[in-house]
Amino acid sequence: MNILGIETSCDDSAAAIVRDGKVILSSQVASQTELHAPFGGVVPELASRRHVEILPLLVDKAIEESHLSLDAIDAIAVTYGPGLIGSLLVGLNYAKGLSFHIKKPLVGVNHVEAHLYAALMSHETIAFPAIGLVVSGGHTSLYFMEAPFSYKLIGQTFDDALGEAFDKAAILLGLSYPGGAEIERVAKGGDKHRFMLKVGQIKNRPFDFSFSGIKTGVLNLVQKLSPLDDTLRSDIAASFQHVCCRDVLQKCLLAAKEYSARSIIVGGGVGQNQYLREIFAQHSSAIPTFFAPKNLCMDNGAMIAALGYHHVLRGGSVHPCELEAESRLSL
Ligand code: KG4
Ligand code: ZN
Repeated sequence: MNILGIETSCDDSAAAIVRDGKVILSSQVASQTELHAPFGGVVPELASRRHVEILPLLVDKAIEESHLSLDAIDAIAVTYGPGLIGSLLVGLNYAKGLSFHIKKPLVGVNHVEAHLYAALMSHETIAFPAIGLVVSGGHTSLYFMEAPFSYKLIGQTFDDALGEAFDKAAILLGLSYPGGAEIERVAKGGDKHRFMLKVGQIKNRPFDFSFSGIKTGVLNLVQKLSPLDDTLRSDIAASFQHVCCRDVLQKCLLAAKEYSARSIIVGGGVGQNQYLREIFAQHSSAIPTFFAPKNLCMDNGAMIAALGYHHVLRGGSVHPCELEAESRLSL
């Protein structure tokens, strides 16, 4: 079964074709980073307009690269939330139109679930129950997963998402947007113990996160130590990355213990961070962690198509007129 996956929930336009929920025939992603970089963050109206221009080209390219005709698409899967409402509407309306035109079923996919599924689809032997962690620019959430496709939200951020904190800290350090990968690059070789930065803890909520305070910590350091030379910048970035990643690790390990989990699953853009991967790997003899492959951590259409395949199998297709975008869709 060939599924076309469409993703436009934020600032990346993406289309992919995945066969039987696993084999990626084509995955096209167009990043809008350059468009939003001058503003230091995503400008929703610009994002939607760019999706309108780019998405049809990506779908054409995905079909061409897969060597399939439109007739060979068995269903269309599209992100219907959570995300920026204008951005979501572009992908959703495109998918609805195509579904009518080619007379193939449409399924709606939850973007956060798809980030977790990017890890599931890439590993054969994940034991359940598991703890699922989504760390991206818009989300930092922890789930207890009794079995595949079962989610109980056990923790989330009270303020900034982890990727957002990386992006904001990068701006304070004079690095370019988006800052996650930049922080990782600059942190290499830095002294991670030089500065005592702290992340927030929420009273009586051991699995929740708070990353807004650590931004102030970085700001204070920058103001006190400016002008920053390369060593200072590198040491602040390393300290910031260490403290944030350690917090995420500790909460995952605690949740795994509390819920007797046998695995940890990680998806979302920050999952690309090599330091995060390494500190989880240090605990692999106690509990293995399965990250989504780096090319499926950032927003992409393949995770939407792959998860959509399971929705189709379970009879989850909807009449195109009935699927609405939900910017605050929960999991
Ligand atoms: O999953 P994603 O593409 O979009 C959302 O759904 O939000 O994640 C984007 C986020 C950005 O905040 C970006 O800075 C962060 O992922 N990111 C990283 C790295 N690469 C991307 N954060 C830390 N280290 C990285 N190497
Ligand atoms: Zn995402």
